[in-house]
Amino acid sequence: MIINEQTPRGPVEASAFENGRLMNHDPTICIENLSYQYPRSPGLVLRDINLSIHKGEFLGIIGPTGAGKTTLCLALNGIVPQFYGGRFFGHVTVAGLDTVDNPIHLLAQHMAMVFQDPETQLIANSVEDEVAFGLENVRVPRDEIQKRIRWALETVRLDGMEKKHPSELSGGEKQRLSIAAALALQPEVLVLDEPTSQLDPLGKQQVLATIRELNAHLGITVILVSHASEEIAEFVDRVALLANGELVDVDIPSRIFAHADLLRQHAIRPPQVASFYMELRDRGFEPPSIPVTLGEAARAYEPMRTLIEVNPLAVPSEASEEAFGSVVLSAQGVEHVYPDGTKALRGVSLDVREGEYLVVVGQNGAGKTTLVKHFLHLLEATAGRVLLNGQDVSNLEVSEVAQRVGFVAQNPDNQIFNTTVEAEVAFALQNLGIAGPELAERVEESLLTMGLADYRTWHPLSLPKGDRARLVIAAMLAMQPDVLIFDEPTTGQDYYGAKRILDVTRQLHQAGKTVIVITHHLYLVPGYAERVVVMGKGVILLDAPIRKAFHEAALLRSTYLAPPQIVQFAQHIASRENLSSPSLGQDHALPILTYEELAACITERKDKA
Ligand SMILES: Nc1ncnc2c1ncn2[C@@H]1O[C@H](COP(=O)(O)OP(=O)(O)OP(=O)(O)O)[C@@H](O)[C@H]1O
Ligand SMILES: [Mg+2]
Repeated sequence: MIINEQTPRGPVEASAFENGRLMNHDPTICIENLSYQYPRSPGLVLRDINLSIHKGEFLGIIGPTGAGKTTLCLALNGIVPQFYGGRFFGHVTVAGLDTVDNPIHLLAQHMAMVFQDPETQLIANSVEDEVAFGLENVRVPRDEIQKRIRWALETVRLDGMEKKHPSELSGGEKQRLSIAAALALQPEVLVLDEPTSQLDPLGKQQVLATIRELNAHLGITVILVSHASEEIAEFVDRVALLANGELVDVDIPSRIFAHADLLRQHAIRPPQVASFYMELRDRGFEPPSIPVTLGEAARAYEPMRTLIEVNPLAVPSEASEEAFGSVVLSAQGVEHVYPDGTKALRGVSLDVREGEYLVVVGQNGAGKTTLVKHFLHLLEATAGRVLLNGQDVSNLEVSEVAQRVGFVAQNPDNQIFNTTVEAEVAFALQNLGIAGPELAERVEESLLTMGLADYRTWHPLSLPKGDRARLVIAAMLAMQPDVLIFDEPTTGQDYYGAKRILDVTRQLHQAGKTVIVITHHLYLVPGYAERVVVMGKGVILLDAPIRKAFHEAALLRSTYLAPPQIVQFAQHIASRENLSSPSLGQDHALPILTYEELAACITERKDKA
């Protein structure tokens, strides 16, 4: 059944509202004693799960890598066990239908799913056909289809790209398209499994706000799996914490995220404002509560104002300009027009010096990937040129460039071709004619550096996602390039997985490599990069040290970025306390980067009553 916007609602009892929102206590989804084992998994991946999800509820699911989150989602649409087989115990019903007894196509009429990897979901020849496809399948009338397509594409900021082929979209645009296709269905149940990992931060906010509206107004039940604690805290009614196949706890976000021990035990990072208040509590302050959203953090701050002082002098000063080496890569007025006419770069000039660690950020479609593909000579500039150590790259073979500039692409799985881990690392070297002891030595060294030596005989695709990313890095390292480029390396990783990958980039940087990282995860950047390049619509909007870049809120907003939650909270405190920052030359600024830095600015007020 498709819920139409005009669907009349019956009278609603007052008790059906919680926190001012409509709550219907009929469960839409019932999970009873669910245990499951894939045909090849060594043990149960879900263990005795019991959970009822009410109609109109917005449920978040969190948990470390391998907790069973995706498997739980697949158990809702019948793919587990109907497609995979395996051992299934217990019962799952969705909209009254048992997911084992009813065929997948029937269950699909009640729910839409969006998975993390959009490449596996896009099937049509154009953006608009992709959205139309599902609607035609459930026989939505023609003019209604047109309306829904327009609405869904606008919601995800893809209007104007209707005729584009999905393969010609940027990574984040592909993810937006799978979300649009699901939203257009306006299903009873919407299941989103890390759907926004490649979206620019403001785009993510907008998409989730729309989903929240659909949830409130149409009563769509939403299940959102995400590693982004701030996002979960902001949008969901309840959070289910899954670990090791078990449902550890289900509660409202403010209670789940205040459980410091539980979170540590299961490798979950609390929202940054919660970490800040927990740190204050550990230092003997008494915050009225442990807030999890920005709004709550601001409210909790008010009663504390008479008890504390904020000392802006405790903010570390900008690291002094390091003496970097000569320019290794230089983009000079680079423009790029794709064959379909898309102007992806409109005159980009950028110098990267030996030994730098640089981060490139910016909205989806800004041209980040397009730019670094020029550094690798994977794309030819329409105008302008790129120099590698002073040589024009267009005079160099791609394989020559690859020996000096390594690349880990946005979706590393597309870079894996071989049947064992070892063969994958050896592959590019063999292509260069390297053999014998030198080959063995280089492969060994790369496997050891990336902690993959024990997996050398494994099939690459049987490695968990985090390890596959490390494999692609290992293969790149074996080439011994001087410059390393990572395109969104932390996508799909949980917090600690993301940290592990960035730690590797830091180690390599400390060993003398020049590192360029593209990312949407701004909160992960402090501690790694000093220089931030902000791109928007094919140009560089800002090239600045990280403290300055993170505190340019308006400029970031113009390219759909938002500073990390804790930086936004520091901006709030700076306004409340009328603090200014001479180093940034800004009023109302407290240029911290992390919650630890903010906490270090807080001292007890001496003259407190
Ligand atoms: N093969 C292609 N053919 C035509 N247009 C393309 C192609 N690849 C990318 N584009 C377009 O070029 C623009 C820049 O894309 P690019 O992939 O460089 O963006 P990005 O900044 O890396 O975005 P994201 O954050 O989503 O990865 C986008 O508008 C995109 O639609
Ligand atoms: Mg990209």
